[in-house]
Amino acid sequence: MPDLLVNLLKLPPLENTPAAEFLIRRAQPFELTPVRTFVTTNFSQSWADEISVGFARQPISVFIATIERELVGFAAYECTRRGYFGPTGVVQAAQGKGAGKALLLASLWALREMGYVYAIIGAAGPVRFYQKTVGAIIIPDSEPGIYTDSLKSTE
Ligand SMILES: CC(C)(COP(=O)(O)OP(=O)(O)OC[C@H]1O[C@@H](n2cnc3c(N)ncnc32)[C@H](O)[C@@H]1OP(=O)(O)O)[C@@H](O)C(=O)NCCC(=O)NCCS
Repeated sequence: MPDLLVNLLKLPPLENTPAAEFLIRRAQPFELTPVRTFVTTNFSQSWADEISVGFARQPISVFIATIERELVGFAAYECTRRGYFGPTGVVQAAQGKGAGKALLLASLWALREMGYVYAIIGAAGPVRFYQKTVGAIIIPDSEPGIYTDSLKSTE
């Protein structure tokens, strides 16, 4: 899976995300356990480990999507490497309603606020999602990226 590059100077405005059904906000320090459990249960332990870095930052660099105080999605930035977006995920039942894009834009705007001009999406799975929502481009010769030589999964 290739790394992608996103030009943060050309981000769509945050208010352009049709995700009214969801509350998108930063996670709180006292939510580390439920957010990690949500990520492990619905996605993977390694993604939960990656976002732990975001919980050690101030402000916390993990956004969550909720419906009636139930977690349905998350996105992290500046966790796995500097300037990186990800990991991110929305539970299947809530997909296709704008939450993924809203989480992505909240995170990318936060990276832009930090001073970055470009963001990197490491080892992107749904490349077309990133191309469509934020004009991401594939970085040539970016495979294998940082995930090479990682420990065998214990899950
Ligand atoms: C990728 C993911 C976060 C998208 O979340 P989502 O809430 O379904 O996305 P949205 O509803 O905000 O989609 C925004 C747009 O992208 C499109 N889109 C979403 N997923 C797509 C995909 N896999 N491929 C192409 N387009 C996609 C939607 O159709 C929508 O288009 P529209 O604006 O014309 O309606 C979600 O599918 C997911 O959690 N996938 C599994 C985990 C994963 O792969 N994470 C990324 C790791 S790099």
